Amino acid sequence: MVLFGASGDLAKRLLVPALYNLACDGLLPKRFALVGVAMDELTSEQFRERMSRDIRRFATRRQFDEDVWRDLEARLHYTAGRFDDAATFTRLASIVATIDAEREVGGNVLYYLAVPPPLFGVISAQLARAGQTTADRGWRRVIVEKPFGHDLPSAMALSRELLTHWREEQIYRIDHYLGKETVQNLLAFRFSSGIFEPLWTRHHVDHLQITVAESVGVEGRGHYYEGAGVLRDMIQNHMLQMLAYLCMEPPSSFKPEAIRNEKAKVLEALRIMRPEDVLDNTVRGQYGPGKRVDGTDAVGYRQEPDVDPGSGTETFAALKVFIDNWRWAGVPIYLRSGKALWRRGTEILVQFRKAPEVLFRDTPAVEHLEANQLIFHIQPDEEIELRFQAKRPGPEMSLQKVNMRFDYRETFTASRATGYEVLLHQCMQGDTMLFSRTDLVELAWRIAQPILDAWAANPPRNFPNYPAGSWGPKAAFDLIERDGRTWLEAVNRGVIETVPLFQACDGIFQHNIAMVLKPEVVDAGDFVIRKGDVGHKMYFLVRGEVEVLDGDGRIINTLGPGSFFGETALILAAPRTASIRGRQRCDLFVLDRDDFNRVLRDHPQFAQSILEASRARYQVTVSADQAFDRQVTAMLGPPKVEA
Ligand code: BG6
Repeated sequence: MVLFGASGDLAKRLLVPALYNLACDGLLPKRFALVGVAMDELTSEQFRERMSRDIRRFATRRQFDEDVWRDLEARLHYTAGRFDDAATFTRLASIVATIDAEREVGGNVLYYLAVPPPLFGVISAQLARAGQTTADRGWRRVIVEKPFGHDLPSAMALSRELLTHWREEQIYRIDHYLGKETVQNLLAFRFSSGIFEPLWTRHHVDHLQITVAESVGVEGRGHYYEGAGVLRDMIQNHMLQMLAYLCMEPPSSFKPEAIRNEKAKVLEALRIMRPEDVLDNTVRGQYGPGKRVDGTDAVGYRQEPDVDPGSGTETFAALKVFIDNWRWAGVPIYLRSGKALWRRGTEILVQFRKAPEVLFRDTPAVEHLEANQLIFHIQPDEEIELRFQAKRPGPEMSLQKVNMRFDYRETFTASRATGYEVLLHQCMQGDTMLFSRTDLVELAWRIAQPILDAWAANPPRNFPNYPAGSWGPKAAFDLIERDGRTWLEAVNRGVIETVPLFQACDGIFQHNIAMVLKPEVVDAGDFVIRKGDVGHKMYFLVRGEVEVLDGDGRIINTLGPGSFFGETALILAAPRTASIRGRQRCDLFVLDRDDFNRVLRDHPQFAQSILEASRARYQVTVSADQAFDRQVTAMLGPPKVEA
């Protein structure tokens, strides 16, 4: 393996640790050797020392195996040189020939271009000139990393440049999402189960969602990110690849070309947006100053190093797309990704159509049926979850949302890895399945390009439009809610524990509440509740402040993070007694009335604290109301003396 850019970050953080992991698992060929090439003036000995230091920092396994490393280290070589200098490549050719002879490599050489894309052509041309892109014996392959172009024309130019020097089957374009176990498992799941595939159509699926949420900002990569944005950085590549796996037709075999052909077909069928569709079906966002997940202050995108203080680059995007083929016609697919959000999580949701409610219409405690959801938790949780409804124990026919989960950690023991192991291994095996073909890259750009064009023609006027650490722009919620749907938020225990009221509650409570809480965003000045309206929801304020207004519009109270409101009307089954308005932009958790009533019934301790707090506040902020007091007393018993 020849590694261009051997002194860079990718090599020490991911590639060498991945090779070490392959060696630990006995998957690195015995005759393997690596030649690093970069500009740094190092000898092979110094390169080995450097890698020896770095591997101890970046190895992913708990136990470090000195013997395996010593063996691998001895197989590392280095040559310094400029990539535009023919002498570098003459020298490289002779080093490769020597190693080939010594180790009997059989002429197989894998070139890894861990360098910026403008250098792909330069290096390929030099390799070709030195006669290194073809061989009489064995194979020659090249691995390149994204970005594969900046837009459709530049992607096509880059492909042409690569194809001048390499044949299509020699080119391995890495999309590291395809190396993730849970992404590969999408295919295993879909095509090894007899029960889901027949349902995988517009007849049974209501809609699909893919979310890739990151809690980190641009992490010192401002320069690159300024020219990219989330559409180019995440959606055009990683997310469309996952979408292709999710929606493609069953291939005729697991052969790479059979799979890549099906991926190409489904991307071809993805509807290209017209400028007016872009306005209706996309949302852009950029983070402003806010808080990190750990509560510390976070700067806004425009304050990040190497970012223009007036930047219009999007760090968040949500799209609604359609696949115009027989299987998916009319099924909306919602895609969303952003940086500096409240959590890190990648999930894919397949939401099935609802069952008809006729059967349950007259049963006492069923207000509405919920749709079945199949959820692929890609990361950091690695699970597959199926949500459905179960009868609650008791004499009445009453339903509650429950789930079944398959968790990788409970079933498999795999050492933590970098994600590059499988990609390197497949490439050495000549298996192109996990890599993007030229036509796939271009198809993905054809989808992204009209969106980029329409956005460029209409620069954003409201950036930044979400604070770091928040739930993203309100418009992204509107995009899906106007279709009568909601984003799936994987609210796990960690998130639940950020709400003070839930912290002391037991595990069963936390599990159940996590499944029914829905995030909602309210902008400053927006009403969350209006006096006199019928109450359907209760709210937990996670970020921001709201004002409580009396009937005359006077502000009678202000509530901050950690507080809750809206429970009174639910307890009384009566209209709202006050209005609530966002004083700033707020992130809220919402609990629907059915779920609220059930939670109160099932968790007396939680009911106790919510009702006590609510009674105290109600008497202070509005006025003592006998109906409210009677109702709470019926639920809780008489008030405590302090209340
Ligand atoms: C990279 C993007 O391709 O993927 C980064 O350039 C992003 O901006 C990263 O953070 C996300 O990868 P992962 O594996 O952490 O989800």
